[in-house]
Amino acid sequence: MSESHLELTGVDIEFPTPKGPFQALDDINLKVDEGEFISLIGHSGCGKSTVLNIVAGLHQATRGGVLLDGREVNQPGPERAVVFQNHSLLPWLTVYQNVELAVKKVFKGRMNRAEMRDWINHNLALVHMDHALHKRPDEISGGMKQRVGIARALAMQPKVLLMDEPFGALDALTRAHLQDSLMEIQADLGNTVIMITHDVDEAVLLSDRIVMMTNGPAATVGEIVPIDLPRPRNRLALADDPAYNHYRHEVLTFLYEKQKKVEEIAGANPAAAKSGSEATTKAKERVA
Ligand SMILES: Nc1ncnc2c1ncn2[C@@H]1O[C@H](COP(=O)(O)OP(=O)(O)OP(=O)(O)O)[C@@H](O)[C@H]1O
Ligand SMILES: [Mg+2]
Repeated sequence: MSESHLELTGVDIEFPTPKGPFQALDDINLKVDEGEFISLIGHSGCGKSTVLNIVAGLHQATRGGVLLDGREVNQPGPERAVVFQNHSLLPWLTVYQNVELAVKKVFKGRMNRAEMRDWINHNLALVHMDHALHKRPDEISGGMKQRVGIARALAMQPKVLLMDEPFGALDALTRAHLQDSLMEIQADLGNTVIMITHDVDEAVLLSDRIVMMTNGPAATVGEIVPIDLPRPRNRLALADDPAYNHYRHEVLTFLYEKQKKVEEIAGANPAAAKSGSEATTKAKERVA
């Protein structure tokens, strides 16, 4: 039996395409502890969402698989809630009703009506949305919609919170505010989180470990950077912190030197393209 909370072992996936099978992921291995905050970072198209969707049970690995507390994941389940980038709220339901729908699905028969109402209100208060319970999605801002999406996921009391670029579409201030809320909520609830991001600062600020993926096709885990910064973390204090800047630099080096996008450089500088692909091979070798 597995000792890890969440474990991806030898995960490969091939998508059928008109030109034959396309191997998006190759031998993804990752063990995640309970309560750990993991960020997945890597260039566009490398396979981050695919990894998340496999953990969510929305895609099935072609080889290998995922265990959560020793049980195989092969379909979606309420213990693995997903927050998408485009805050997928149902437009005809109010803020309250959007959360209620998820709560009813998960807690039907386990909570009475009053308990459900308190629980929905509590989760919307966590993300500071209790002032807008009866608004519909088109009456609130993008950041507010995102907060409702997070409340909806939290209200399912998931063991694992899966977030695909949850703050990607937001302005910098709203984004900073939500990052802070997420850190507070996670410190309180101790959920395991896997979050995809393109933002290096966001990854360093929030994570216990940053998992950096190599470029696709056949993308895999390139390097993993443990972020050993004390919590609670304060973005202003960290701006001048040498350890913070060291981690930042490590991630930037991986992304922009070791995993430089070959398409971007192939035309302009063939020598650079060559060293870029050598670096990719090396990154893969380190994992093997
Ligand atoms: N259903 C599918 N059929 C065929 N190919 C797919 C499918 N889903 C994803 N892919 C391919 O798999 C690769 C990884 O896609 P994925 O969406 O996981 O990337 P990503 O890292 O999340 O990118 P981004 O940062 O742009 O969101 C891409 O080359 C994509 O075209
Ligand atoms: Mg994606």
